[in-house]
Amino acid sequence: MHTVHKTPAIALTADTSSDLDADLLVIPVFEDDDLADEAGLDEASGGVIGAARSRGEFRAKPYDVFVGHLEGWKAARVLLVGLGLRKDFTPDRLRRAAATGGLAARQRRLTRLAMVHRPGTSVAPDRAAQVMAEGVILANFDGAPYKTTELPRVWLDSVTLRVGGQGKDVERALDRGRILGEASNLSRELCNEPGNHLTPRVFAERATEIAKGAGLKVEVLDETRIDELKMGLLLGVARGSVEPPRLIVLTHEPKGAPTTPVLGLVGKGVTFDTGGISIKPAENMDRMKDDMSGGAAVLNAMAAISRLQAPVRAVGVIPMTENMPGGKAVKPGDILVSAEGKTVEVLNTDAEGRLILGDAMWYARQRGATHLVDVATLTGAVVVALGKTTSGLFGTPDWWVQQVLNASARAGDRSWPMPVYDDYKELLKSEIADFTNTGGRAGGAITGALFIEEFRGNLPWTHIDIAGTAWAEETRPYQPKGATGVAVRTLVELALDAEAWGKLT
Ligand code: BES
Ligand code: MN
Ligand code: ZN
Repeated sequence: MHTVHKTPAIALTADTSSDLDADLLVIPVFEDDDLADEAGLDEASGGVIGAARSRGEFRAKPYDVFVGHLEGWKAARVLLVGLGLRKDFTPDRLRRAAATGGLAARQRRLTRLAMVHRPGTSVAPDRAAQVMAEGVILANFDGAPYKTTELPRVWLDSVTLRVGGQGKDVERALDRGRILGEASNLSRELCNEPGNHLTPRVFAERATEIAKGAGLKVEVLDETRIDELKMGLLLGVARGSVEPPRLIVLTHEPKGAPTTPVLGLVGKGVTFDTGGISIKPAENMDRMKDDMSGGAAVLNAMAAISRLQAPVRAVGVIPMTENMPGGKAVKPGDILVSAEGKTVEVLNTDAEGRLILGDAMWYARQRGATHLVDVATLTGAVVVALGKTTSGLFGTPDWWVQQVLNASARAGDRSWPMPVYDDYKELLKSEIADFTNTGGRAGGAITGALFIEEFRGNLPWTHIDIAGTAWAEETRPYQPKGATGVAVRTLVELALDAEAWGKLT
């Protein structure tokens, strides 16, 4: 297997564009933009840039690109990247523009990149440094590690950024961007791994390596320990597979941090979801290798939280299993008893994520969590509701959901609030147990969330359904097909903002 991502050397500069030494100079351009601050650019391009703009060949719509040659500048080529209208500019546009620049450079087999942040916008130099670093690192990712026939891969080696300011804050923000970019890529790497390679045991090994590298405490609970803890929901799902389940527990205990709050992050870790006895149709079942995206997000967010020394305690819990239709598999109508004692009638074995998350939420509480967030590729219904670029956000109370929403906006992970009214609870009524594991087609994403809510033990809780967003079906200028790394940066931004948590109540 090939290496799938590399972090380039990233440095800050104050040089004028003509002095930036790189293979490719990336200049973001607004639709309403006279480029007056980039003196001499049009001349250096031999008038090609001005002509392309007036002819409408390059209109600077978001992530449009245009390449020109430069005479007399240190960089031999320039790449203009469209930012859309100035009034619509956000840090996320800049992040994506940086990713677009990085991917365009690699496609042209160029390895030394320079990029500038345009002056006079609402995005401060430190924010710019962070999101540009994230963007170029996200671009330095390869989604086809098992291809043996492609040309040698080209990686960005060095990146020089001009963000309109320098100093400690900007350096710190750059570092944050570096760590967030790397964590996102590590998460994508795991999500892209096929189910035959990445079993629960292998995931646990990889998690141990990643955690140790980041200075996190890690424990891996095996099937015996899971049984001792009476996690009947996790064990119930795991019964159908010859691969044993695992429960990964990660703890971040920064010195001097107050004993509360403790952020509890819980991630669905199904390394392959066949549906079990309620088996899925063959078409697109291969996609179900990424059903551990929530677990990968929690793992890599915890690693980044540790690397960044976030001044808040955090515990990450990742239940890992396959969902297979083996001879001992759980059957529709079976009753499972959760570690908490609540009983569940399994009406559909394909609604396995909520089952394993129920036990994991309980365990996160046992380990001291005071604020919960779970992340899961939970329902096809959320894809129907919100499509493939926005995650569904559920939870209670509202101020905690708002915190997570804010964090996701800063992270560039789009998400949108969905209702969790009590009315929907009826749909989970069981004749013989406390509740069922499915509520039917209508409101399917909501009943999935409400099932998990049963295990929040009255703590503030948010559920992020990433079934639509964990995997990109189409290539975009800023993102290749495949795993997206969604939710990693959201969880880290949330942890870094812990001081603000109480303030919205
Ligand atoms: N892992 C799937 C959800 C999913 C669907 C993720 C599509 C990514 C893309 C989950 O375990 C599942 O199968 N959910 C069922 C629940 C239903 C049986 C209540 C679904 O959405 O169909
Ligand atoms: Mn399923
Ligand atoms: Zn699943």
